Amino acid sequence: MTRPRISARISAISESATLAVDAKAKAMKAAGRPVIGFGAGEPDFPTPGYIVEAAVEACRNPRFHKYTPAGGLPELKQAIADKTLRDSGYRIEAAQVLVTNGGKQAVYEAFATLLDPGDEVLVVAPYWTTYPEAIKLAGGVQVDVVTDETTGYLASVEQLEAARTDRTKVLLFVSPSNPTGAVYSPEQVEAIGRWAAEHDLWVVTDEIYEHLTYGDASFVSIATAVPELGDRVVVLNGVAKTYAMTGWRVGWLIGPKDVVKAATNLQSHATSNVSNVAQAAALAAVAGDLSAVAEMREAFDRRRRTMVRMLNEIPGVLCPEPKGAFYAYPSVKELLGRDFGGRRPQTSAELAELILEEAEVALVPGEAFGTPGYFRLSYALGDEDLVEGVSRVAKFLTQAR
Ligand SMILES: Cc1ncc(COP(=O)(O)O)c(C=O)c1O
Repeated sequence: MTRPRISARISAISESATLAVDAKAKAMKAAGRPVIGFGAGEPDFPTPGYIVEAAVEACRNPRFHKYTPAGGLPELKQAIADKTLRDSGYRIEAAQVLVTNGGKQAVYEAFATLLDPGDEVLVVAPYWTTYPEAIKLAGGVQVDVVTDETTGYLASVEQLEAARTDRTKVLLFVSPSNPTGAVYSPEQVEAIGRWAAEHDLWVVTDEIYEHLTYGDASFVSIATAVPELGDRVVVLNGVAKTYAMTGWRVGWLIGPKDVVKAATNLQSHATSNVSNVAQAAALAAVAGDLSAVAEMREAFDRRRRTMVRMLNEIPGVLCPEPKGAFYAYPSVKELLGRDFGGRRPQTSAELAELILEEAEVALVPGEAFGTPGYFRLSYALGDEDLVEGVSRVAKFLTQAR
């Protein structure tokens, strides 16, 4: 019998659709084509200078040339505990923090630590592409709670309750959301948290966009809003989005001590400590103030308003107002099956491909986020490119017959 070269578990992992679109757009650009990319999920700002300086200094410190504790530098764990109290009013000890290789590793380790095969996780769709793979790898079963533009992509307690079974162990809660930019109001956060507590569910809450909310929307941590959840909360976070530090790869997981200890054991065999230089940079970031993110937020807010207005002016495109993160998630369902100069794309993936070829604009189709019929556009790019890119999309889409 010939055995498969790649294990079934790993063959089942799909390529990250967002990174794939980004790679294709970059390849076209490298070939000299003037592609504008709305695919990337990262701020277009440089990492603030004082953070970079802390890393430079760390490079010269012999202590950082050696292994450090697998779960993170003690001073960084304490700074994360302090920052969590400052930003979300959530009081934790340093022993409840695990420093990870970006928020992504925190996502993976949270599910690997909490799930046994067959345990169900409620996931609100549209969802970020990494969650399904992390849940699947842990042997968990994802149960989708599908939302759409009519509710601004917000799930209700009734919808969650309809999806709950006696195998449900975890609710994944993400606000502000990637890919929709949806932000739950404090009342909605409380109602959902209380429902989860009532049914003894664990809540894994991804708070990586906590500082990017706009207008009257504001972030509240479900961990503080609903003390009844007790210790069944795992918070995921990181420096990537708040401090324009996507490449530094520092995130963290906060949870009860037994969960953190178990996840640290996993990490100690998989990757050990996160690069000490990156941890020193993260320490400067979280111990510092929030002025850099305040500046970015102002630029994002301006771009957000421009993008949403321009998108809604395109016939057949419907874009609810995103209240957080840096993504717009318009529906293009009305345009599917229409004629674009002899081509009739039937899916948002086909339409995105056509737009990339013909208008030289990269968008991520909703297929990547569990809801075909939509596009995700990041507005974390320069104002001029943003206007030029959406204008090209508008010009292309208005030829629909
Ligand atoms: C919702 C969400 N969580 C977590 C992450 C992880 O970010 P990183 O691994 O770069 O820290 C991202 C990045 O795109 C995200 O959008």
